[in-house]
Amino acid sequence: MERELEIRRRLREAGQEQLLRFWDELGSGERDSLLGELELLDARELREHCGRAQEAYERESGAPQRLDHRMRPVPPEFLGSVRRSRPEELRAWEEEGYRQISQNKVAVLLLAGGQGTRLGVTYPKGMYSVGLPSGKTLYQIQAERILRLQQLAGEKYSTRCTVPWYIMTSEFTLSPTLKFFEDHNFFGIDRPDVVLFEQRMLPAVGFDGLAILERKDKVAMAPDGNGGLYRALADNHILEDMEARGISYIHVYCVDNILVKMADPVFVGFCVTKGADCGAKVVEKSYPLEPVGVVCQVDGIYQVVEYSEISQDTAEKRDADGSLTYNAGNICNHFFTLDFLKNVAGTSEQQLGYHVAIKKVPYVDEEGNLAKPVRANGIKMEKFVFDVFQFAKNFVAFEVVREEEFSPLKNADTADKDTPTTARRALLWQHYRWALKAGAKFTNASGRAIAEKSGVPEAEDPSAVCEISPLISYFGEGLDLHLNNKVLSSPFILDAQRV
Ligand code: UD1
Repeated sequence: MERELEIRRRLREAGQEQLLRFWDELGSGERDSLLGELELLDARELREHCGRAQEAYERESGAPQRLDHRMRPVPPEFLGSVRRSRPEELRAWEEEGYRQISQNKVAVLLLAGGQGTRLGVTYPKGMYSVGLPSGKTLYQIQAERILRLQQLAGEKYSTRCTVPWYIMTSEFTLSPTLKFFEDHNFFGIDRPDVVLFEQRMLPAVGFDGLAILERKDKVAMAPDGNGGLYRALADNHILEDMEARGISYIHVYCVDNILVKMADPVFVGFCVTKGADCGAKVVEKSYPLEPVGVVCQVDGIYQVVEYSEISQDTAEKRDADGSLTYNAGNICNHFFTLDFLKNVAGTSEQQLGYHVAIKKVPYVDEEGNLAKPVRANGIKMEKFVFDVFQFAKNFVAFEVVREEEFSPLKNADTADKDTPTTARRALLWQHYRWALKAGAKFTNASGRAIAEKSGVPEAEDPSAVCEISPLISYFGEGLDLHLNNKVLSSPFILDAQRV
């Protein structure tokens, strides 16, 4: 009873008493779970959150704020590039990256709290298998890349090194992700080196400023965006864990890029060599309205302007040479020093603004029936991971080659871009290129030679299918040993059993 009174008091203070309007109809279990959820919400924060959501909605539905006239592209001197750098520069950065990894100074941090709504699966995206011959999921591919990288750096410097894997989940993804890792024995990674933690959730708010109930006993909640990272780092004492392990550099990435080069030694080495506290990998946009954010400056300060927040004119703007003016596509691969994160998670994080998403949020109507809205009815507020670039003292961007490093899984196969099919093809084309470079030849099932082909990765499968386990090769290295002058029957899987 006391618990109920306290929650009622808080909701009154927050102006959100409607959240208990079905109280009299609830059984004791339902009451308990609703109180448990409401207990986590602070009255002042809830009031501010709902007020802010309503204001933002009113602002956005009037004349949405555009940053376009304040944007400038990244100055060339702050934009490194794989394509435009000399081989010896790339080698030096890579060497520096390996050196840092071998000294246990580099960690990877996966953002995996999203709901994967566009892909349309009910489980976390990392558990998705895009139909590779091996049947591997995104999580397994990533785990094996970490293991191989540890081995490579360890061999180079005769050390035994670890790249800890921090995984930010949300209420939606924590337990299935943990169970998946347990069921797969953490894919061979030492258990203490995989650290799962949870980001916060925020209530979805109606246009009237009132938080929405999705059931009589449940508030409609959504994760607070991938920029919820900074609060989650503090909530869960993750930076202390990093410090205790001696980590200095963190590579943050998102779950859905099948080509992600985790703790990429070239990128890490580039950022360390440049003395950066904060960095972002980018690719050239493939078409003006591609749904990627652009890394740029706004009023002279580094920022990503998200694809949902840029006008079509600006996205399509071109320079005199015909190239897109805002061409630095964000691939959600960020570099941070631990000191930078400490600073952000400690104080600056609170200054980050929220981005507003107007969404269809299922709700209970006044009669207590579940309703699926046909039109948007709710406001979700999110922080974005890259909004901390503004606090960097030395920001750098690094442009990488799309075919080698970026193929995101966003949509179901009914779409024509960023689907399981395009992701699978991107990986198989890459492995096919590596195999040819290493000197392999391919035959079909009846032993007839398959002609080499360079092809368009997204439009078709490679003429020969060859999947290389990340445990054998992280980024195409060391394959001559296994593949030079070998005639392989397609489809072929190069894994530990074959070497
Ligand atoms: C994101 C980038 C976009 C970039 C694109 C490249 C952000 C805000 N946007 O867009 O600039 O061009 O990737 O593919 O980073 N996540 C959480 N918690 C949340 C919400 C999301 O951890 O509350 C995670 C997701 O699990 C995912 C990542 O953040 O790993 C990106 O989220 P998603 O919603 O897929 O971002 P995009 O809109 O695709």
